Amino acid sequence: MAQPEQFVIKDKIKSCQYILSQVAKERIRHTILIVDDEEDNLQLLNRTLRREYTIITASDGIEALEILKKEGNNISLILSDQRMPNMSGTEFLSRTVNEYPNIIRMLLTGYSDIDAMIEGVNKCGLFQYLTKPYDPEDLKFVIKNGINAYELTVSKKALLHDLKELFFTTIKSISSALDAKDAYTHGHSLRVTLFSLILCKEMGLEENFIGEIEIAGLLHDIGKIGVPENILCKPGKLTDEEFNIIKLHPEKGRKILNGIKRLSKAAFWLNSHHERWDGFGYPQKLKEEDIPLAARILAVADTYDAMTSDRSYRKGLPHETALEEIKRCSGSQFDPSIVETFLKVENTFLEATKNSEDYYSKYSVFNKILSDKELL
Ligand SMILES: [Fe+2]
Repeated sequence: MAQPEQFVIKDKIKSCQYILSQVAKERIRHTILIVDDEEDNLQLLNRTLRREYTIITASDGIEALEILKKEGNNISLILSDQRMPNMSGTEFLSRTVNEYPNIIRMLLTGYSDIDAMIEGVNKCGLFQYLTKPYDPEDLKFVIKNGINAYELTVSKKALLHDLKELFFTTIKSISSALDAKDAYTHGHSLRVTLFSLILCKEMGLEENFIGEIEIAGLLHDIGKIGVPENILCKPGKLTDEEFNIIKLHPEKGRKILNGIKRLSKAAFWLNSHHERWDGFGYPQKLKEEDIPLAARILAVADTYDAMTSDRSYRKGLPHETALEEIKRCSGSQFDPSIVETFLKVENTFLEATKNSEDYYSKYSVFNKILSDKELL
């Protein structure tokens, strides 16, 4: 028999209440650090907020900084009084900005403390200031807004971090898949990228540029996906026809990546990684500075790795031989200024070859971005 409607509604309300109580249980209990030199104020604030939040108190800025060292990652919001001995509220809060960018900062000031308010906004990344005396309900409302802002910032940053991680690990996986096609090119793309990063760092180039070259390096031979394996892995000498097919790989790579907006720079650069300074390279026979700087860097890195690693038709050449060859080709195959940089860091190339994974994580711009506090 069907249940009367009011019972169905009652059941639904009960189940909603149950779900809401579970959600409430799972909500993170945020921690608030309250800093005030007056014990009575600390107690009042504690009483007002402790039902909903975990409260940590400090009686001055110095003690609060000590607490942050241990608990900083667990604190969502700081509420600090302005007038305190040793260190003012604004001075204390300004010291937390760089180290704890996600924490929401609030300042409690007297009505007339305009200077503190201005300083708070300008130097402390203040979310809001509160004036004394305050209504406890208003305080709760403002704190709730601050906690909401904290949750929003943290989830936005987590999302951005995940997206960047997904992007970079995808690029790295494609690159490793390409290297795995041929036992002799194992790790080639990673090493070419690493050598390019070493050159870029020595040249003092901007981090954004280096990040882009990191992508271009990992994908520089992506066009080889379109080259038949019997040609790519041929142990003997290539015929002219076979070599002409291999020479198509920069353009094939550009076409593969061109549809992906985020990779358009990498696509443009990798198209030129076989151009020569003297204009006898391929595919466009670009000359000197008409070749993008990133492609001139990749060319030195690529050639060094091609010479020093084993190939199906020969053993890898010693570092010294590769060094002499790159020097000899300065001004013909390579941009002389890049060769000059190479000569300054050739020892790092040699060391990096022995432990490319470790060196790579040290030089990778993406590793740095992904471990950036701003994104965590
Ligand atoms: Fe290539």
